[in-house]
Amino acid sequence: GSIRQNNIFNGHSPLKLFTHAKITITDIFKNIASYVNDSNTYLNDVIKSDRNLITNDKYKEIQQLKERVSRILSIISRDHMKVVFFGRTSNGKSTVMNAMLREKILPIGMGHTTNCFLQIEGTDKNEPSVLIPGSDELKSINNLSSIGNALSREKLDSDSLVKILWPKEKCRLIRDDVILVDSPGIDVSVNLDEWIEKYCLDADVFVLVISAEATITGAEKKFLHRVAERLSNPNIFILMNRWDATDNEPEMVELVKQQHLDRGLEFLCDELNLCQRKEAAEHRMFFISAREALLNRNVDISTLSKSGFNKAYKERLIEFNKFEHEFEKCISKTAVKTKFEQHTNRGKEILILLCETITNIINKSQTIKRESSEKLIETEDRNNFLERELILITELAKEKIRYVSEDVYQRVAQTLNDE
Ligand code: GTP
Ligand code: MG
Repeated sequence: GSIRQNNIFNGHSPLKLFTHAKITITDIFKNIASYVNDSNTYLNDVIKSDRNLITNDKYKEIQQLKERVSRILSIISRDHMKVVFFGRTSNGKSTVMNAMLREKILPIGMGHTTNCFLQIEGTDKNEPSVLIPGSDELKSINNLSSIGNALSREKLDSDSLVKILWPKEKCRLIRDDVILVDSPGIDVSVNLDEWIEKYCLDADVFVLVISAEATITGAEKKFLHRVAERLSNPNIFILMNRWDATDNEPEMVELVKQQHLDRGLEFLCDELNLCQRKEAAEHRMFFISAREALLNRNVDISTLSKSGFNKAYKERLIEFNKFEHEFEKCISKTAVKTKFEQHTNRGKEILILLCETITNIINKSQTIKRESSEKLIETEDRNNFLERELILITELAKEKIRYVSEDVYQRVAQTLNDE
């Protein structure tokens, strides 16, 4: 309905689910880091006492947490969403990506164009640059055609990966932590298993670009079968591209569409067993024209009815927007789950370890006190003080465990719904 249309068109991106979750989990781990610091300070006192309240091993284990938490924080800062595009040569993979990036970043053309893997990721710098395999040096590129030139000068294996670092400020998708991987035609390169091993295991979404003038091929199916063997329940989108070709045969459109749908759904739902047919038909297969989408990126879809475009043309533009929206929903949800669920569990482990250690110390110290209750009053005062502090920390830890345990994904989703 109209609410959903609004969401698509007024810039409320589902990608924010991921960016919000990243901020939330970063805050949580900064909290954990400060708690680890506090605990270490107190344990430094405890270890000095001659009452054997903590073993040396335990003390060392807790000391190492500082390093562990800062490692996790640095992993979180690099966490991103990743999508891999694949399909036969010239089906329009690079064109689809450019349309999504809203700029002609990747070289596109007739025949075999993309000759290796290209990864587009964000940089905080103002100028784009490329990183060619085998060299650590960033080559700056001033304009888009020089990406193509830079690549054609290099002798690259078809399974090597070139990174394009694109200024975050220039592109929303990249600013929101999406990394896009373009691939050489699946019919040109044969080493599917190596591909998957090297570039696909951490992908959140796969987009298969098919030419609607042809059909899904054996090579494409084989690739997805292999992916499904390695990753449980991969998220796969099928784009029937070049749908503009149907303008020449309007009487055939519905028939051809049904044929493509049948084959695509049979593959996704019956062969790969990924989801129900209805779900796949609505959310996983789209009939688009990447070329038209790229040409019309600045057209406001809500004013399309007044434009001079014909009906089928408008439908294709709207379909492309729908695909983008479904894609953003899917990738952010998956990435939050796969990436942050792990971190949440680690955070919980760390807090439980601290909590148990400190509770142990308190219990031990109380036992010792009972056994020697008539001993020196001055040390007792000091022990009481230490004990009060420790109880405080333990309470704090319990509170934080509760905080981390609440599913980050749930909380972020809730915040987004409230907005
Ligand atoms: P390789 O990199 O060689 O594997 O090809 P690719 O899949 O990246 O295809 P690319 O995006 O380079 O597009 C190939 C040609 O098809 C280009 O000339 C595009 O302009 C054209 N093309 C892409 N999408 C469409 C479309 O939706 N409709 C039409 N008519 N042409 C398209
Ligand atoms: Mg290409």
